[in-house]
Amino acid sequence: MSKNISFVLDNKIVSVDFSRNKRYTPTTTVLNYLRSLPHHKGTKEGCAEGDCGACTIVLGELVSEKKIHYKAVDSCLLFLPMLHGKQLITIENLTSSKGELHPVQQAMVDAHGSQCGFCTPGIVMSLFALFKSDLKPDREDIGQALAGNLCRCTGYVPIIDAAKIACQRKINDHFSTNEPVVKNLLKQIKRESLYLSADHQKYFCPLSIKEVFRLKNKYPAAFILSGATDIALRVTKNHENLKWIIDLSLISSLKGISHKKNCTEIKAGTTLSDIKQYAHDRLPALYKMLSIFGSDQIRNMATIGGNLATASPIGDIAPLLIAYDAKIVLVSKSKKRKMTIDDFITGYRKTAAHKKELILSIIIPHPKKGTHVKFYKFSKRKDLDISTVSAGFCLALTAEKKVESVKLAYGGMAKKTKRARKTEKYLTGKEWNNNSVEEAGKILEKEFSPISDARASAEGRSVAAKNLLLKFWSDTKKD
Ligand SMILES: Cc1cc2nc3c(=O)[nH]c(=O)nc-3n(C[C@H](O)[C@H](O)[C@H](O)COP(=O)(O)OP(=O)(O)OC[C@H]3O[C@@H](n4cnc5c(N)ncnc54)[C@H](O)[C@@H]3O)c2cc1C
Ligand code: FES
Ligand code: FES
Repeated sequence: MSKNISFVLDNKIVSVDFSRNKRYTPTTTVLNYLRSLPHHKGTKEGCAEGDCGACTIVLGELVSEKKIHYKAVDSCLLFLPMLHGKQLITIENLTSSKGELHPVQQAMVDAHGSQCGFCTPGIVMSLFALFKSDLKPDREDIGQALAGNLCRCTGYVPIIDAAKIACQRKINDHFSTNEPVVKNLLKQIKRESLYLSADHQKYFCPLSIKEVFRLKNKYPAAFILSGATDIALRVTKNHENLKWIIDLSLISSLKGISHKKNCTEIKAGTTLSDIKQYAHDRLPALYKMLSIFGSDQIRNMATIGGNLATASPIGDIAPLLIAYDAKIVLVSKSKKRKMTIDDFITGYRKTAAHKKELILSIIIPHPKKGTHVKFYKFSKRKDLDISTVSAGFCLALTAEKKVESVKLAYGGMAKKTKRARKTEKYLTGKEWNNNSVEEAGKILEKEFSPISDARASAEGRSVAAKNLLLKFWSDTKKD
């Protein structure tokens, strides 16, 4: 058990002991930490809520003996202990020791990718993560890598050009040359539970689920945290002092995806980026949904368990998981239980999980051949936006093109993610054609009483919900 955290910065192991160093607490964000250092002020603060990307840094993580994996994250949403055992790379680290610009920086110069420069460090760090990935990025990959970075003045065309130029010039940069040294440093940092204490705050990073239950027992009011993309806002926006925190992110038994014969099991602490990569060829609707969920920086930290636990009525994962007929597995000290996502979400930000339970995993049955599963998101922007209305749909047709079974799950239409059960009942057995879908729309309209808010009026939401159903019909009649 360690009482301090250690990570690699500037090719050195840096340790922070919160009980001695009063400048920082375990919920100091990495952004605030960097800005307190003399030589790392290039990382900028824009929104402090994950929306602008000005604070983007890259984390290097030893994923195997051979490989360091580089991922872009928003440092404004990252608590200091989340750096433990990782390499922290900032904009200041990109230029080589001889003063040569990194290929990504040079490409930004060559393509005139910067004007006022406020967003530029964040953009360069996102492009650096893309440069270090295994991808030979196409236009879509570049768009995905930049979706979490807001530039108000240059315009994206030169920045996209810079990304293309840099990735065409993929060479062994000084990070590749120096990797053996960094690997050696990372291996020196012991993998052990962290019990961090500061004035008025305790932050625990256990290594096992058993340890979590022991800590939960001792500190029943402790906040559980996984990727922190939700919880961090309590600190950065609400300025709350979280007294006790149990961080699950070091628990390897809460991570991973198993592809089984008839289903896929995803552990609750798996990041959305890992799930997106897995889903690409296997679960296309899940891949599509994750492609427009937040940004790379958010998906690199956010977990599937964290998203479901928030039970947000506009969360994007629940409607699709209901359409897939997925089950959630909850674990407590003495037992496990399994239920549908529909039963798990009981009300506005309420779930069926007891205080002494954790989400262990999600089981997604593989859709039968010929079954249509689709996800739709109606929002003001395509990328990095919250849903106004979202929908996860599943349809099985008979040989005569009649509806054998249908599931219609909506987000943004009620206090919780909700199935349109009356509409489903109406459609079952009907011909899958324009007429029955138009008629179903009338039932759908009566089934929900959505609210009006800044995103849309109640009427707008009802129209959107009907139109998404119509789009589903239009998309599936072609399939
Ligand atoms: C900029 C931005 C964009 C976003 N875009 C989207 C979007 O497009 N669509 C969308 O749906 N959401 C979006 N979100 C919301 C957010 O990313 C998700 O809710 C995220 O998946 C939460 O996961 P996490 O691991 O970060 O959770 P955390 O913040 O770590 O935790 C969230 C909650 O889950 C609980 N929890 C975590 N793991 C477990 C577990 N194993 N068992 C029990 N409880 C657990 C925690 O106690 C906490 O209450 C966005 C957020 C930001 C900041
Ligand atoms: S400061 Fe805007 S994403 Fe972090
Ligand atoms: S260069 Fe000014 S915001 Fe991007």
